[in-house]
Amino acid sequence: MGNDMIYTLITGGSMGIGKALARECARRGMNLLLVALPGPELEQTANEIRKDFSVKVDTLGIDLTGPPSPGKVLEWCEKSNYTIDILMNNAGIAGSAIFEESSIEYSDERILLNIRALVILSRLFIPMLKQNKKAYILNTGSFSAYQPLAYKSVYAASKSFVHLFSLAINEELRDTSVSVTVVNPNGVRTNTGTLDRIKTHGKLVQKTLILDADEIAQIAVEGMLKGKNIIVPGFWNRCILQITRLLPSNFKIKKAAKIIRKELLNKINE
Ligand SMILES: NC(=O)c1ccc[n+]([C@@H]2O[C@H](COP(=O)([O-])OP(=O)(O)OC[C@H]3O[C@@H](n4cnc5c(N)ncnc54)[C@H](OP(=O)(O)O)[C@@H]3O)[C@@H](O)[C@H]2O)c1
Repeated sequence: MGNDMIYTLITGGSMGIGKALARECARRGMNLLLVALPGPELEQTANEIRKDFSVKVDTLGIDLTGPPSPGKVLEWCEKSNYTIDILMNNAGIAGSAIFEESSIEYSDERILLNIRALVILSRLFIPMLKQNKKAYILNTGSFSAYQPLAYKSVYAASKSFVHLFSLAINEELRDTSVSVTVVNPNGVRTNTGTLDRIKTHGKLVQKTLILDADEIAQIAVEGMLKGKNIIVPGFWNRCILQITRLLPSNFKIKKAAKIIRKELLNKINE
């Protein structure tokens, strides 16, 4: 790493977990390609990193929900002679909604960004990744991947997809230089929507289960470089995962639905 022409590509690298991943990689001397929606945030983040670390940073503002977008990202790298040895598929959108009342666009956006862009970028970049002695794909999943979540039905299912897809392609790539990691964080203090949702939980939950984006990034990058396949950041989150595995799934689905419905009604009544 630290090679002038070799880069880590991070989608959703302008803010939240993606920005934290970018800073963590820059701290380790990796050159960066940040991809996010066009807008001032992306350039601001790139400038901040250029100022704080001596690494190269380039940006591409693009809406990854557009079907041709993953291809355009590869084209940009090829035209600029950028070689990628780490692909971080981090861009994603959450949100809660009553499914039958939600718009088609609501579901489409989550499927196109959380699933399609991640799959197609992985497919397009694997040949380039394989040319490196060691290469990595880090996919940002979620704690929501582990069970069906009513009122977050599309989001949770999209993250289950990310989880299973990551493990499956990791197996296919077992005898190559590419290792695939999925990081499944529980709540992370990032955008205002998430911060508002976090506030609806008690102090104990906030203190034990919710982490900062910097902590997630440090754990994720370290785990990825060690070749871990699944990372669940936070001791208490790992405990909860083990405990809830012992509970009957009907009970878990009903309990989670009650909590998310309360969050959703609070939001609607605001
Ligand atoms: N925060 C949490 O509690 C939490 C928990 C578990 C998993 N996650 C996952 O972590 C990832 C990052 O979440 P976050 O909370 O850090 O989100 P965030 O703060 O909202 O940042 C999202 C990033 O994705 C980019 N993005 C959004 N829509 C895009 C699109 N259509 N095309 C290209 N880029 C797009 C945004 O670009 P702009 O800056 O231009 O908007 C931004 O860089 C997501 O996959 C999310 O599901 C989050």
